Amino acid sequence: MPEVFRATPLDAAPRLAAALGLGALWVKREDLAGTAFGGNKLRQISLILAEARKAGADTVITTAASQSNFCRALSGAAARAGLACHLLLRRAGGTAMQGNLLLDHVFGAAIHWTDVTDPWDPAIDAELDAIAQAVRREGGRPYLVRLPGRTAALAASAWAHGAAELAADLAAVDARPDAVVVACGSALTACGLALGLPRAGVTASVLGVSVQQPVTRLGPWCDDVIARTAMLLGWTDASHRLVLTDDQIAPGYGRASEASRPAVLLAGRTEGLVLDPVYTGKALAGLAAAVGGLIPRAGSAVLIHSGGAPGLFLHADDMELR
Ligand SMILES: Cc1ncc(COP(=O)(O)O)c(C=O)c1O
Repeated sequence: MPEVFRATPLDAAPRLAAALGLGALWVKREDLAGTAFGGNKLRQISLILAEARKAGADTVITTAASQSNFCRALSGAAARAGLACHLLLRRAGGTAMQGNLLLDHVFGAAIHWTDVTDPWDPAIDAELDAIAQAVRREGGRPYLVRLPGRTAALAASAWAHGAAELAADLAAVDARPDAVVVACGSALTACGLALGLPRAGVTASVLGVSVQQPVTRLGPWCDDVIARTAMLLGWTDASHRLVLTDDQIAPGYGRASEASRPAVLLAGRTEGLVLDPVYTGKALAGLAAAVGGLIPRAGSAVLIHSGGAPGLFLHADDMELR
């Protein structure tokens, strides 16, 4: 199977660092992860596709909202791996042929729409099963991907290994950051990083900037994911330095915020980076807010650029460009 994921660079961002009052800032460029506009999900997807192959599948099926970065990356990676892809999409995020949905079509995914609005509604499982049965009737061999669901520990383990790559990047430039900052949806990326970094010799805190869930819900979930991931990896020590914040969620999931809009423009104008206002823009806003707190002034940090740039184009009207 062709590799769908490629190791990503760690770039210094000196102008952005200075603008934030930091001594140094590095950006881990997951947006360059190799296939289909990259993103933090590609490390997980390469493991998931390997599992699907091992199970003898020729088709992957998943579900999310219409503008999901995960679905776009999965459909692109499936195309590269020679697998068919079916997406069951919720209309939240809109049905306009833009951004990630446009890319899903470009990658040849079969799109199915659902009227169910709650991703955890059991009706979604029934609809996924119906798609799988239809694939079987046509002679296909489907593999169901539920993220986070039962794939959670596998997905987080991809980032526990990603932590070792980041540790090697940091060692190569002799960097000892105070914090590694990442946007959190399901928090599988943050959990994997938090578990993997100390084991790779990096003492930085991981700051998970929630874009969706309050910390009261995300915290216990992360404890559980980290424990399950450690078990999957056979690591007996699951200690970590994960710090979560939900200060950047407002006005809500999938929406630009007062702080994320200027953050997108700052990253673009200082470093030519393309962030989006609902994930990476909020991560950068969370990083900026942590300077003088978790991250000392003139200290140093890593921003995980978790991809999601296709989403920027859906927020043109929000960006208040001048
Ligand atoms: C661009 C981007 N960044 C960050 C995240 C959050 O990743 P996780 O779900 O692992 O917390 C996502 C999740 O969809 C994403 O699309």
